[in-house]
Amino acid sequence: MMNQFSFPTRIWHGEGSLQAFVEYLGEIKDGPYLFVVDKGLLEIGLAQEVIELCAKFELELQVFSEFSGNPKESEVLAGAGAFKSTQAKALISMGGGSAMDMAKAIGVFATHDGDLLDYDDAKGGDKNITNPLPINYAIPTTAGTGSEVGRSSVIVSEKTGRKVIVFHPDMLPAIAVLDPTLSQGLPAGLSAATGIDAFTHNLEAYLAKGYHPMADAIACEGMRMIVEYLPRAVERGQDLEARSAMLLAASMGATAFQKGLGLVHSLAHPMSTHYGTHHGLANAILLEPVLGWQVRHRVDDFSLDLKFRYGQVVGFLGGQASDWQGLPELLGDFVRSLGLNTSLVAAGLGRDDLASLSAEAFADGCHRSNPIAVTQGEISAIFEHCLSV
Ligand SMILES: [Fe+2]
Repeated sequence: MMNQFSFPTRIWHGEGSLQAFVEYLGEIKDGPYLFVVDKGLLEIGLAQEVIELCAKFELELQVFSEFSGNPKESEVLAGAGAFKSTQAKALISMGGGSAMDMAKAIGVFATHDGDLLDYDDAKGGDKNITNPLPINYAIPTTAGTGSEVGRSSVIVSEKTGRKVIVFHPDMLPAIAVLDPTLSQGLPAGLSAATGIDAFTHNLEAYLAKGYHPMADAIACEGMRMIVEYLPRAVERGQDLEARSAMLLAASMGATAFQKGLGLVHSLAHPMSTHYGTHHGLANAILLEPVLGWQVRHRVDDFSLDLKFRYGQVVGFLGGQASDWQGLPELLGDFVRSLGLNTSLVAAGLGRDDLASLSAEAFADGCHRSNPIAVTQGEISAIFEHCLSV
């Protein structure tokens, strides 16, 4: 059997990495740049720091911030228009997953014609990405999605109302700049929710079907780091050591999930589409019930290897590895210790929505790599169980 593994991103990590990055651009001057940045970061002045630093090194920068939390095709096309009209040569994104996904998609549409559906990865759209893409640098300010080390972008098609994944290896940012001073101001609730998203990436990658010892090793260390540092980052936002570790653990999660994700993500996605639940919070809410349901109802399908992996994660959370069945409860305790409300009912779940939520979760591709295969009826049973907890 032949395997292919990819870990190609350059990551600049730690205090001072932003300064070093801008100095580097000052040397190579591969701009002008389109600076794709979350509007909120302009409002709080964090983006200005980067803009001023770039000005010091005489880098030409055009700011683009007209996009939503779930970026839309029309916004990407506007960004591609701005890229071309300002004769930009490269992209710098700063913010959470939406800014980084926007920049990746702008790179595609600045160099290719057609509309979003032509590039839908689910329909082989990657084959239509044939022209060289502009170089793309990413500066994450949240420690969650890990889009800075990813090769895909999620954009909403206004024609269908659905999210479309655009994927190409060349969409990978050339450098990911992980500077903890940029995430110091992230509020506690958002730090917790994004941090649990990062944890879920590591966890689901580690448990996913398939052979990928490199991803497994990264995922284990990612989980261990998050258990140690996320509570500190939530309690004391200014803790640079904790912020630094969390940024790296989030990048590790997204690096590891090239192996695959799982059932938690498949159930979380329609929660966000239907109720606008923050993606990380949706994962946080679902971790305990989704894993708990599998332990209670499908225990006969747990291989020895899967029991071992559950036990390993129990160990990371401070329990005894032999109590592998205790993992769901420990996950719930961990999430609640961060101050997150794990009630699905509070997030908006109602009985009337069960059928459509279950159908969408089943159609979502993430659970195909879940170690326990489930039917749509079983997904519905898990949601139903959530109504009673
Ligand atoms: Fe996620």
